Amino acid sequence: MEEMDTEIACIRLGNVHVIPVTSPELAREFLQTQDSVFSSRPICMSASLISTGYLTSVFLPIGDQWMKMRRILASHVLSPASFQWLRYKRDEEADHLHRFIYNQCSNQSVINLRKVTRWYCANVISNMIFSKRLSEIIEKEEQVDALFTLLGHLYSFGISDYLPWLSLFDLDGHKAIIKKAYATATKHIDAEVDQRIQMGKDGNKTLEGDILDVLIMLRDTNGNPLMNDKEIKAQVLELMLAAVDNPSNAVEWTLAEMLNQPKLMQRAVEELNTVVGINRLVQESDLPRLNYLKACIKEAFRLYPITHFNIPHVSVSDTIIGEKYFIPKRSVVLLSRLGLGRNPKDWGDPLKFKPERHLKEVEDGGEVVLTDSKLRLLSFSMGRRGCPAVKLGSTITTMLLARLLQGFTWSSPPNSPCSALIESTKTDHFSTLPLVAHAKPRLAKAMYS
Ligand code: HEM
Repeated sequence: MEEMDTEIACIRLGNVHVIPVTSPELAREFLQTQDSVFSSRPICMSASLISTGYLTSVFLPIGDQWMKMRRILASHVLSPASFQWLRYKRDEEADHLHRFIYNQCSNQSVINLRKVTRWYCANVISNMIFSKRLSEIIEKEEQVDALFTLLGHLYSFGISDYLPWLSLFDLDGHKAIIKKAYATATKHIDAEVDQRIQMGKDGNKTLEGDILDVLIMLRDTNGNPLMNDKEIKAQVLELMLAAVDNPSNAVEWTLAEMLNQPKLMQRAVEELNTVVGINRLVQESDLPRLNYLKACIKEAFRLYPITHFNIPHVSVSDTIIGEKYFIPKRSVVLLSRLGLGRNPKDWGDPLKFKPERHLKEVEDGGEVVLTDSKLRLLSFSMGRRGCPAVKLGSTITTMLLARLLQGFTWSSPPNSPCSALIESTKTDHFSTLPLVAHAKPRLAKAMYS
């Protein structure tokens, strides 16, 4: 598209029109002005398997089932009241992270920040859902790996999605990989759900203690369960998937940039010293005032989004976009997260990690937020398919970075590939190397107990 000097294209795959977009103006038309037309999702093998036959919310084409699940999430799982109610579980995980790294410091070993950030996100959501951190439910890392395998294959190109008669053959092998990872990811989740449902039937559970209880105890107006067992299991898996990738990826990249440009880390730590100090640990109530920290994360969302494209949207009727582009019904629209975030028309020096560019919001009297209402970068997206967990997602991400920086001084091990990793990503987006670093406690010993 760059070579053709276009910000919108149409690629015909089988009978499907696939429409990649890199311009914020056009993106806003898709997600704001004509949001209702582009509110569906594609039918495809990966989404069907991962959503257990379209039972959940993220991957569902528009329709009654999507509406039901989206309402349940908005009113009972991701509502402001649930957010407050489950805060103590997020606090437990933030404290656990702090202690976990402190214990690793005493071994003098390098810390694998990809593992740490992914496990933290998985533990937070797991504690909110099951009242257990994931490491208490499973013994090995295989389940977190399985979640990332599923995410890596979700909506990845599969020829049979465009030529359905080829689906018998699993030519690219994706189906087998997804089925295996799905079995691993759901094994322990399903056992937990079954056990909890049985507790309810045995009369051993009457109070709601976490999201799983909420989902099991939901009733319709006739007093019947609102969700069946299969829906609960599928929705729980989807919540786990939704919570782990974006926050961990943004924090890993922010730290990589900070290790590469220590001045950035110094400024973030100074902000923490001013806002929080060194005699207490950063709390969620501090996050609104950590504007530089949030600007760093927002810059990571802009420059290093976890995926090239937003989750696909599908048009439910014919329409015209930008006054001249005819988009037929059932087209698949791919808003390019990379194309928007690195668009030179909107961002000066687009490949440079410059958090200051987001601080204008503070100068204007506001606070830095991780969303962008003009879609010059795509973090949480917008419209009826936009992320319903902006507050939770922003909190998990900011708290993770805040605790890592408040508690520890980070440095690169000798011959670290950090700067090479950053440079290679400018051209070839996905890095395979996890970020590793040394950590040194920077608070008094008692703060880690
Ligand atoms: C930093 C964290 C997060 C980011 C950046 C993020 C981003 C996104 C994006 C880009 C979408 C697709 C929007 C579209 O199709 O236009 C989405 C959808 C969604 N996200 Fe998030 N998300 C985050 C955290 C979470 C968390 C923690 C949850 C729940 C536990 C969650 C639940 C969902 C759901 C249910 C949808 C599907 C909405 C629908 O299709 O109706 N997200 N998110």
